Amino acid sequence: MIHKIGILTSGGDAPGMNCAIRAVVRAGLHYGLEVYGVMDGYRGLVEGGENIFKMDRSSVSDIVNRGGTVLGTARLREFKEESVRQIAVNNLRKTGIDALVVIGGDGSYMGAKKLTEMGIDCVGLPGTIDNDIASTDYTIGFDTCLNTIMYCVDHIRDTTESHQRCAVIEVMGNHCGDLALFSGIAEGAEMIITPDHPIPEDEIISSLKKMYEAKRKRAVVIVSEKIYPDINAFAARIQEQTGFETKAEVLGRVQRGGSPSAFDRILAARMGAYAVDCLLAGKGGICIGMVNNKIVDYDIYEALKLPRDKHISMLRLVDILN
Ligand code: F6P
Repeated sequence: MIHKIGILTSGGDAPGMNCAIRAVVRAGLHYGLEVYGVMDGYRGLVEGGENIFKMDRSSVSDIVNRGGTVLGTARLREFKEESVRQIAVNNLRKTGIDALVVIGGDGSYMGAKKLTEMGIDCVGLPGTIDNDIASTDYTIGFDTCLNTIMYCVDHIRDTTESHQRCAVIEVMGNHCGDLALFSGIAEGAEMIITPDHPIPEDEIISSLKKMYEAKRKRAVVIVSEKIYPDINAFAARIQEQTGFETKAEVLGRVQRGGSPSAFDRILAARMGAYAVDCLLAGKGGICIGMVNNKIVDYDIYEALKLPRDKHISMLRLVDILN
């Protein structure tokens, strides 16, 4: 039976992480557990001391509407080393913490699995804007990020149309194209280029040239990050070869901040409470997902092996709608 649980956030922050923290803390207290926050992800766990602190109901008051993570976050490559993880385990034991909730992406999941193998039951929650975790239909933060992208692209469209230009807009996602694909559909973008849907450059140029010659008022091209090493050079080639005056826009970290959407808040609340249920049931080394609107759990190794949904039907939609 567990008595004390810890919670941390790890990797890139995502809107909704605070709602997940709140849910874990409040659910833990509801079931009579002591709950400890860990500052700055695995780094805080390894550094120990004041980074590990007791939380109460009021520690998580008024955070549901805030972006970022009140626990801070970090990426700690050294956590792959067993000797480093052993320091974390010792710090947890010192405080008497027997189980941990880790909110983060797939890298953070691996750390959670390894800690479980070292005797601390861990549960992972999918907190990332990228939606690149196959064991859940949606990650916490994806929906808010998508809405932020839409807000930005709406603004860019206005001026792009007034000036009869082409806008090449780069969005985040790491190596996953979901943010580009979903925002591209929501925006009716003329072209969407993602790792799952790469388009040869000559095809991009000839399509945009046809649009320009047909006197289209504007063109919006949404591109996943990490496809074009120099997005400005890509925009310059489009301009040179199509006639469209072309501007590149990199949305950057504006995409990762801001107040979480209702969808992300509710998703985070459901997953956070479920994570505590799992720990109370003696489960560890698992991650939580939402599949077909049901909250479910997977073994972390199994989850990391699942093939990611490439959204073939959504890609077809792009062809049909354009
Ligand atoms: O994983 C979230 C994410 O925002 C990715 O989309 C992006 O590639 C990466 O993090 C950027 O990380 P950082 O802010 O540490 O450079």
